[in-house]
Amino acid sequence: MHTYQSPLDLVRERSPERPVALARPGAVTVAARWFRKNFDGGVFYAVKANPSPWVLRALAEGGIKAFDVASIPEIEQVRAHAPGAKIAFMHPVKSRSAIARAYADHGVRTFALDTHEELAKILEACGGARDLELIVRLAVEAPGAAYALGGKFGACSLEAPALLLAARRATQDVMGVSFHVGSQCMRPQAFLAAMAQASRALVRAGVFADVVDVGGGFPSVYPGMTPPDLSEYVAAIDRGFGEMMVHEATRLWCEPGRALSAEGASLLTRVELRKKDALFLNDGAYGSLFDAAHAKWPFPARLVRGEGEGAEELAPFRFFGPTCDSADHMPGPFWLPEDVREGDYVEIGMLGAYGVALASRFNGFGEVETAKVGDPPMASMFGLAPRCLPTFHRDAGTVMNLKRARGKRRRRR
Ligand SMILES: Cc1ncc(COP(=O)(O)O)c(C=O)c1O
Repeated sequence: MHTYQSPLDLVRERSPERPVALARPGAVTVAARWFRKNFDGGVFYAVKANPSPWVLRALAEGGIKAFDVASIPEIEQVRAHAPGAKIAFMHPVKSRSAIARAYADHGVRTFALDTHEELAKILEACGGARDLELIVRLAVEAPGAAYALGGKFGACSLEAPALLLAARRATQDVMGVSFHVGSQCMRPQAFLAAMAQASRALVRAGVFADVVDVGGGFPSVYPGMTPPDLSEYVAAIDRGFGEMMVHEATRLWCEPGRALSAEGASLLTRVELRKKDALFLNDGAYGSLFDAAHAKWPFPARLVRGEGEGAEELAPFRFFGPTCDSADHMPGPFWLPEDVREGDYVEIGMLGAYGVALASRFNGFGEVETAKVGDPPMASMFGLAPRCLPTFHRDAGTVMNLKRARGKRRRRR
C-alpha cells in the first residue's frame, strides 16, 4: 500500500482516476488498544464493518485476538490475516454446510443461534459435538441507536427461557447470551437495560450463562452525533454485569465493529460535474456511501484541491454517485467551499466502518484503490482528533456554527 503524508499530497502527486480509500491503520490500532485496556472481557471485532486485510492486521497489532464473523469468506479472511485468532460465527442463521465447514475445516467452536431449529442444525452439522460454545441471541428493547437492529434476529422474551435451557443442555462447554442494542448507540444506558432483560430470561430459564456477550453498538462521531465518552459505555456495562444473575466464572464479551474501524478510513472522491448545488462524484450509494444515501447521514466532507485552496465561503451541497440510478443520491447537506468545481477532490470522513465493505460493482463502478495516509481522522473517540464535528445550518439567511477545517471562522452572511 502506497503511503502519503496527507490526501492533498496524494492528489498533487497523481490525481487519481478512481475513488481512493484513505487508510489510517494507526487509528484502528489505537481503538483496538483502548478496547483491550478498558473493556473487562473478550473483544471480538465484527468483521462485517470492514474486512480489509490492513484493518485486520492493525487490529491484531492493537491486541485484538478474536473476531465475530457472519460467513465462510469472512472466516477465510480472518484466517489469512490474523492467524491463530479465535473466531465466533455469530450469524444466527447459517447454512448447514457453512456450519460444518466452520467446525471441521476452520476449528470454529462458537456459534450463535436464536431458534430451536438453528440449534438442531448446529448440533447435526457438527456431528453431535459436545465441545461447542453456544450463544443464544436475544431480542432486546434498547432505544438510543441510530441504526436499529432489533427487527430481524433474537429470541423474544417468551421464547428465550426454553431456548436457553435447550442450549445449556446441548453443550458441555460454554453456553452464553448475546444481544445487539443497535448500531451507533447514543445511550450507554441501553446496554444496562439490555443486560437486565438478558438476566430476566436466564432467571426464568433457571440456568447460568458462562458468557454475556453485549454485542456491538459502540458509537463513532458523525455530524450531529456526538456520543458520550466510551468510558461511559464500559461503566454502564460493568454496572449491568454486576446486577446480572451470573456465576463467578461468567465472562463478558463484546463485538464492536463501527467503534474499532470508523476512524480508520475516509474516502477520496472526484467531482465529475457540478450542477448548481449538486456534485456528481465518482463514488456513491452503490459504492462506499451507502449510509450517506440510505440512512441520509451527512458525513463530514472537505475539499482537496491540488492547486490552492477553495473559496472562504462555504455552501451546502448534495452528492450524486456515478451510476444511472436516481437512488444514487446523498442528500447531505455536505458543506464545502462555494466554488467547488469539476476536477476537485472531496474527502469524505469517518467511513472506515460500513464504507468500502458495502460497495458493489453496479453499473461497472465501485472499484476502489487503497492508499495509506499519515494525517489524523476528522474526528475521534480516542483522542486523535476532536470528539465533535461541526454541524452547519442556515438560519434566517445566516450560516450558523461554520468553522473551516483549516481553522478559519466563516463570515456571517
Ligand atoms: C452480530 C453482530 N455483532 C456485532 C455487530 C457490529 O455492530 P457495530 O458496528 O454497531 O458495533 C453487528 C452489526 O451488524 C452484528 O450484526
